[in-house]
Amino acid sequence: MEARQRNRTQAFATGVMLALLAGAAAGWLARPLVSNARPKLEPPPARYANLKNPYSLTDEAALAEGEKIYNRYCWLCHGATGNGVGPGMADIVPPPTDFTDKDRVSRMNDGYWFWRVKEGFPEDLTRLMPAWGKVLTDDQIWKVITYEMTFAQKAESQRK
Ligand code: HEC
Repeated sequence: MEARQRNRTQAFATGVMLALLAGAAAGWLARPLVSNARPKLEPPPARYANLKNPYSLTDEAALAEGEKIYNRYCWLCHGATGNGVGPGMADIVPPPTDFTDKDRVSRMNDGYWFWRVKEGFPEDLTRLMPAWGKVLTDDQIWKVITYEMTFAQKAESQRK
């Protein structure tokens, strides 16, 4: 290789390196302060793992009570139709869970639901889901969960 050509090759390689570094720096600067990604579904602690919802999704009395609890404590964040876009919390990151998202909801088992409503996200307090165990009894928690579980069904039937 001639000296001139080698110099040009080297200059090109340096340029590529600099561009890569600049890109990485820009990406780092632009990173969100709090991750917007849905958290993965962490397995619930062992004491929750095998819990079963005592109410069925057709239990009218449980649903009526669950709806009252939802409309008092949950809708401001999770939205009146359960789509995660409540008036109180339009901009929070990550946003409140969209209960009409069939894909996510179908991966949440009873123990997971109960754990999250009772304890919130104790492992990460930047996720603004309160721990309702201080306010609601276990029975009330199951009823509001039962009501929330119907949002995906309702969204499905509206799409048809
Ligand atoms: C202050 C706003 C706020 C209120 C009020 C609220 N939530 Fe949440 N909730 C959130 C946010 C934000 C998340 C999502 C956290 C995340 O994904 O990082 C969440 C997540 C959840 C989850 C976990 C679902 C998942 O995707 O893992 C359940 C279950 C839930 N909420 C139920 C309820 C119930 C039941 C109530 C009322 C008793 C309620 N929430 C009230 C903000 C709220």
